[in-house]
Amino acid sequence: MLPYTLIEKKQAGKALSREEIAFLVNGFLQKEIPDYQMAAFLMAVFFKGMDADEIGAYIDVILNSGKRVKFPDTGTYYADKHSTGGVGDKISLILAPLAMASGRVKVPMISGRGLGHSGGTLDKLESIPGFRTDMSLKAFQKQTDEIGCALIGQTEDLCPADKVLYALRDVTATVRSVPLICGSILSKKIAEGVNGLVLDIKTGNGAFISDYDASVHLADQLRHFGEAYGLSVRPVITDMNQPLGNMIGNWLEVRESLDVLKGEGPESVREISLVLTSQMLSLADPKRSQDEIRAELEQLLDRGDAYRAFLKIAGTQGADIRFLEEPERYPSSAHRIEVRSPREGTISAIDTYQLGLDAIALGAGRKMITDKIDPKAGLELHRHIGERIERGEPLVTLYTDNKPAADLLAERLGDRFSFADTPTPKPPYIHEIR
Ligand code: URA
Repeated sequence: MLPYTLIEKKQAGKALSREEIAFLVNGFLQKEIPDYQMAAFLMAVFFKGMDADEIGAYIDVILNSGKRVKFPDTGTYYADKHSTGGVGDKISLILAPLAMASGRVKVPMISGRGLGHSGGTLDKLESIPGFRTDMSLKAFQKQTDEIGCALIGQTEDLCPADKVLYALRDVTATVRSVPLICGSILSKKIAEGVNGLVLDIKTGNGAFISDYDASVHLADQLRHFGEAYGLSVRPVITDMNQPLGNMIGNWLEVRESLDVLKGEGPESVREISLVLTSQMLSLADPKRSQDEIRAELEQLLDRGDAYRAFLKIAGTQGADIRFLEEPERYPSSAHRIEVRSPREGTISAIDTYQLGLDAIALGAGRKMITDKIDPKAGLELHRHIGERIERGEPLVTLYTDNKPAADLLAERLGDRFSFADTPTPKPPYIHEIR
């Protein structure tokens, strides 16, 4: 087999066999197939798609590039949540300790880094000094069982093929593809050995799949293939027509998550965290009512139990938790620049995708595989859709060490917002639980 002819075959829209997909994915993992050929193949999939057999094979090959966790069958319910990706999406940082604090499920979570214009849980966690996200399969399993949760990335043991494909897709504009998203998300979630999976399917202009019907299709595909591996899958379609919460950027998002974990923080982040965690607990115990579950979870946030669970996870994974207990200890960006509103009115739309790219330009993400992230960098939004602003009031604050990038952006940031003279309704947080 030759990578060249397989790229041509996919370019022509033909279906690849399981052996051909395995040849490409494993060859890339073994560094026998170079980045440029794999990138060409991913781009061909991006344009031509994959049929159901190919998607099934693609998931399976990535999954089998590593090992699978097998938890003992002792009646414990293992569950996880995964998002299809968005801007300011910090829900995993809240949901995982919240679910752990409930004591009703255990959460072995494999997450990814920033992808395209979106942020990634791993980069957020690693902005906490000392937090280690690489762990052996054995240690991952042990920590999950001992404290109720472990937060890691793809490793040499677990989905190594997703690790390399993910990094390549991040910088080659090949994320917005249903088969590639299915392979990436499901391989990780099946490898974790969970019983139940909540999927946060983002829809809107900051999501990878922005169109509503296409988001529903993605949700249904993920459920279909997840169920084929015996997972109970609950997709929830949530809005991504504006950044989630006020903060975009790794440490900024950790700080905002800490607020939510202590019963404070933006309503949007709290609400989506509560709904997704409730869905997870309802998968574990379908007989409990949503009202009962929600009341329990609200208490865990408001009493600080979820916050303490996060400290426990972070401490166990090597973090210096003094930075979480006293976030003001964290170094500040060299530049903090306030961008003021160019006009008065109600915010009627936000270019969420572009704000994600803006955060990357400030240092919060990678433009190339080898780029280093500035964990402090990012943006703070002072208004969301449906909120009124007067001309000259603060609209966005930029945090960065890169002054030239900030100066360039400061001139353009006002353009990311549309203004109306009449009231605009706030978009819903949740569209649909499928
Ligand atoms: N999250 C992932 O893990 N993979 C994708 O492709 C998109 C979101």
